[in-house]
Amino acid sequence: MNNMVIAIDGPAGAGKSTIAKIVSNKLDINYIDTGAMYRAITYKAIRDGIDINDEEALIEMAKKTQIDFKDNNIYLDNEIVNEEIRTLSVSGNVSKVAQIKEIREIMVELQRKMGKRYSVIMDGRDIGSYVFKDANLKFYLTAGINERARRRYVELKAKGHKINLDDIVNDIKNRDDIDSKRSFAPLIKADDAVEIDTTSKNIEEVVSDIMEYIK
Ligand code: C5P
Repeated sequence: MNNMVIAIDGPAGAGKSTIAKIVSNKLDINYIDTGAMYRAITYKAIRDGIDINDEEALIEMAKKTQIDFKDNNIYLDNEIVNEEIRTLSVSGNVSKVAQIKEIREIMVELQRKMGKRYSVIMDGRDIGSYVFKDANLKFYLTAGINERARRRYVELKAKGHKINLDDIVNDIKNRDDIDSKRSFAPLIKADDAVEIDTTSKNIEEVVSDIMEYIK
């Protein structure tokens, strides 16, 4: 592998995307939010009235869907969907869609292509354990459930979403449960990943821990 690949995995709300974005800027490499890819597929299914339990229909739709990243925007069939994919309705259904093997295979192929084309820091659930088993560096970020929910609440509230904390706690617990129990490429810490508990660390501390490993 010529390009550098840094994998950041962990449960929902552990701070992966915030940290990955900052580190990507420091290293001047691309940041790929793989959760956004599964969210985009889920958003499209809901928008187009496809039954979330109809696996065949979801797979057919995914095969005909184009997902791209450009300038920190996520494109679904050439349309920017940065905000649309963050609603609780998408969050509440995405883990169900993401457990479908065929859909994961389509997303993983795209992710591997990106890693071949340029250096990346990629965050998700299975990046170090499945997508890039030979990544140059792997991190596994965790944090207590209350802290993870609080962070997500503050983030969504700031963006103007109408939400309450209990719904966020339930969403996170539900997704972690499905993500870690699915049979194909579940959420798991790769044996060679560095685990960082971010519960009582601020963003700068986590970034500085990670930069130390990178050096
Ligand atoms: O990272 P984020 O919380 O936005 O991810 C949304 C969902 O997408 C996760 O809960 C999980 O179901 C799915 N996902 C996945 N594999 C990845 C990234 C995300 O299954 N690599």
